[in-house]
Amino acid sequence: MPQLSEHIRSDDWKKEKHVPVIECPRKVKSGEIFPVKVTLGKEVAHPNTTEHHIAWVSLYYHDEGGKFAHQVAHVEFTAHGESADGPNQGPVYTHHEATASLKIAKSGVFHAVAYCNIHGLWQSSAELTVEP
Ligand SMILES: [Fe+2]
Repeated sequence: MPQLSEHIRSDDWKKEKHVPVIECPRKVKSGEIFPVKVTLGKEVAHPNTTEHHIAWVSLYYHDEGGKFAHQVAHVEFTAHGESADGPNQGPVYTHHEATASLKIAKSGVFHAVAYCNIHGLWQSSAELTVEP
């Protein structure tokens, strides 16, 4: 039976507008609070319209040797120009970008997953080294 993981796509974020970009330090100290930003469309902008938009992003952390990934943030983007005046006539749009603050005790890998309401699921990863 096909698995959902077969439908989570990835590519070079510099060429493909759906790939989440994880912006974080490469090294941190154990217990230090630091920001991790997830955004899309840094090089090639993704539309943000009533008909076509990024609906959410989730950020996971998988520590080295750990059995399971931990979800550390999930953000829903809920305003895409919806309005009683018609599609894309609203006064507010949510840009698909989120920042979480974390502290981590073990090295590992971040995994970000983004969902486009038309083009499905996309992922990217970033390694993190945690020093004692
Ligand atoms: Fe899309």
